[in-house]
Amino acid sequence: MSKILHIICSPRGDRSASLTVAKSFLEAYQAKNPGDQIETLDIWKTTIPEFNGETIKGKYAIMNGQKFTPEEEAAWKAVVKLADHFKSADKYVISLPMWNFSIPYKHKHYIDVLVQPGLTVGFENGSYKGLVTGKPMVAIYARGGGYGPASGAEGYDLQSKYLKQIFGFIGITDIKDVFVEGTASKKDEALEKGKAQAKELAAGF
Ligand SMILES: Cc1cc2nc3c(=O)[nH]c(=O)nc-3n(C[C@H](O)[C@H](O)[C@H](O)COP(=O)(O)O)c2cc1C
Repeated sequence: MSKILHIICSPRGDRSASLTVAKSFLEAYQAKNPGDQIETLDIWKTTIPEFNGETIKGKYAIMNGQKFTPEEEAAWKAVVKLADHFKSADKYVISLPMWNFSIPYKHKHYIDVLVQPGLTVGFENGSYKGLVTGKPMVAIYARGGGYGPASGAEGYDLQSKYLKQIFGFIGITDIKDVFVEGTASKKDEALEKGKAQAKELAAGF
């Protein structure tokens, strides 16, 4: 039995294009894999720990065997808990809106807590090495405009570039994309196309 972690990055609920397509994907996936467990992490409805000076101080003190305060220890433990929860999954689905050509700030907050040396990324022979390996991901990107090949706007797509780069950095390199494009002007068409693509991907995930 595999555990799928679905990370919801849009706060728009039923109006969210990325979530609508993710639901189609997960329905098709669950029908094919009834024994698998799907867990949802809505980053807008969860408390993501602060990653502030106290957390960083606690992290280095604990790592270096130095003295730390109970507050620093608690702050670092919350980071470890978030990373352990992420790593407890076997496969990932991320439904992700484009905001200002990139990802929503809540998602960046989640990533800044998750991506930590010793927890999700290691250092070996002079280079970084992702520690979350052998786990595939499907990324469902929604955007109001179009950024595909020949759109002339490819360079503005920092959403999919960043997602691939940062999750690749921690070891998740098998990332399949579903682009739900043009939701501002032709949402229904974008949803139909996205759902069809998602169902196809679900068959082999
Ligand atoms: C704060 C904000 C910023 C946005 N920035 C962009 C953008 O840079 N480019 C774009 O094509 N669409 C942009 N949009 C539109 C969203 O990408 C679009 O509505 C998409 O469908 C959102 O995904 P969702 O429906 O899953 O929430 C933005 C929307 C919001 C709310």
